[in-house]
Amino acid sequence: MAKIFLCLILITLTQIFLAIEANPRFLQSVKNNPMKQRTEKLSHFRFYWHDVISGSNPTCVNIIRPPAANNKTSPTGFGMVNMIDDALTEGPESSSKLLGRAQGFYGQASQQDVGLLMAMNFAFSTGKYNGSTITILGRNPVFNKVREMPVIGGSGLFRFARGYVQASTHTFDMKTGDAVVEYNVYVMHY
Ligand SMILES: *[C@@H]1O[C@H](CO)[C@@H](O)[C@H](O)[C@H]1NC(C)=O
Ligand SMILES: *[C@@H]1O[C@H](CO)[C@@H](O)[C@H](O)[C@H]1NC(C)=O
Repeated sequence: MAKIFLCLILITLTQIFLAIEANPRFLQSVKNNPMKQRTEKLSHFRFYWHDVISGSNPTCVNIIRPPAANNKTSPTGFGMVNMIDDALTEGPESSSKLLGRAQGFYGQASQQDVGLLMAMNFAFSTGKYNGSTITILGRNPVFNKVREMPVIGGSGLFRFARGYVQASTHTFDMKTGDAVVEYNVYVMHY
């Protein structure tokens, strides 16, 4: 019974795909796939991410405050969302060479501990990478020594990118919340 059902689903899906294929205005396969002429390579980038909350020029701003359920705010800050436009630099010092910016947001997605959901684009502005981006979406338990998050795509020189990043805190100021985090990016791209 299950097999027949699966078959029916497959036949229906095939018909849908054939119908789409028959409409050349909607879908055309790319002849001479340009990516076939190139080899996919693995690159490793290392840089520092500067999350500045304090001072008159913050690069991280709170955009959503956790709603107080029954007037009790979550001890982990569950529900908080910050928008970021953080500098990415070659070295850990803020005066170090600017390579690009991390733009996006992160939110506190864990009720039990501090586990951020990070959604950000690394927008590079240096040399041949100027204008190319890498997109990260993943879980960041910030108090762990090394946090791994997936690279889910990219643009420009990072088209078809996939991979992962490893983030480790370089410095964290408990008073201001400012942080410098080392990012090691391992990305497959053409
Ligand atoms: C929450 O606090 C406000 C102000 O202190 C009070 O008026 C309200 O009744 C409280 N709500 C609950 C659900 O306790
Ligand atoms: C990067 O590209 C932008 C836009 O094309 C350009 O204005 C800028 O000068 C470039 N920066 C570098 C460092 O090449």
